Amino acid sequence: MSSTEELIGRANVNDIEAILAITNTDVDEVAHAVRANAEAIFTWDYEQSRKPLQRLYEKAKTSQWNSNDLPWDTDVDPAAVAAANQVQNGYGDNRVDLTGTPFQHWGDKEWIDFNIESQSWTLSQFLHGEQGALICTAQIVETVPWIDAKYYASTQVMDEARHVEVFSRYLSDKLHGFYPINAHLKMLLDDIIADSRWDMTYLGMQIMVEGLALAAFGFMHQMTTEPLLKQLLRYVMSDEARHVAFGVLSLKEYYEQLSAAEIRERQEFAFEAAVRMRDRFLQQEVWERMGINVQEAVKVALQDPDRPIFQSMLFSKIVPNCKKLGLLDAADGWLRERFTELGVIQFEDWVDTGEEYATLDEVAKDRAGSAA
Ligand SMILES: [Fe+2]
Ligand SMILES: [Fe+2]
Repeated sequence: MSSTEELIGRANVNDIEAILAITNTDVDEVAHAVRANAEAIFTWDYEQSRKPLQRLYEKAKTSQWNSNDLPWDTDVDPAAVAAANQVQNGYGDNRVDLTGTPFQHWGDKEWIDFNIESQSWTLSQFLHGEQGALICTAQIVETVPWIDAKYYASTQVMDEARHVEVFSRYLSDKLHGFYPINAHLKMLLDDIIADSRWDMTYLGMQIMVEGLALAAFGFMHQMTTEPLLKQLLRYVMSDEARHVAFGVLSLKEYYEQLSAAEIRERQEFAFEAAVRMRDRFLQQEVWERMGINVQEAVKVALQDPDRPIFQSMLFSKIVPNCKKLGLLDAADGWLRERFTELGVIQFEDWVDTGEEYATLDEVAKDRAGSAA
């Protein structure tokens, strides 16, 4: 069993200095290599015996969409998009005392600039996470021993290529370009790819990273009034719900045969992933780019009265899915305690994505609508 310090490199999950000390040291790199340690597995058992995965595969085959069909001719005003989406920046509207902070003399122009940067940063992290999903899922095609899972994962690879494509195109054509990957997100993706156990790829990517993405896309989809971004997110979410369901349905079967010690390792990995994802929300790179002292800016950002609710909502898919997999209560509730410390345990009885995914298939709904 590992201590918190061994798992995440610090004893206190809320140690802001330690979080900010981790930065992306090579922001100009164009290629980044990670050694994958897993074996590629052939299976000679071609019988499709896993019905839930087979259903998911059939659904994926008929829910493909073409990114070129999105309304790319929409005129996008980056300031308006940013203003509509800035739910997480409650300190810009006088609810936090800014006296003596770097924001003391900020006027409308600075806040608008900040919102634009923040929006680009958020979408850039979505983009990099999508590439992580592309690589992880291609890895699952190789490493998972079940034919039904190889079939399904191959459809997800196509989905993820489309997601990388649409976020990249939106950032370069409609906003002002990209931010590099956040150091905490990069660390997590590297850990997921390097792990030799095929189920850890699923846990890190399909359950944790994509579980958070599904919630985050849902938020932005509700907030945004920009029609291109709204439709783009709606279609990406249709795919993401299937991906998270793929993780839940595959791991549900696999975890039933693991020992208590093996389950404990999965709990620890889920905790590490949750902390890394939470750490990235300090969006330290935005302050750096704007020439603001990062420590001081983060201190103000943390006083935002809306922040705890917004941040915890991002775990609203992860926690019920972990519960469904039996990860919350194994090992005397070790992960339940950790999620309680992180302030996210209240979502444990929300609907899990293994149940919910079909209702989120907007592509199928649109096709049914236009056929009627
Ligand atoms: Fe994706
Ligand atoms: Fe995905």
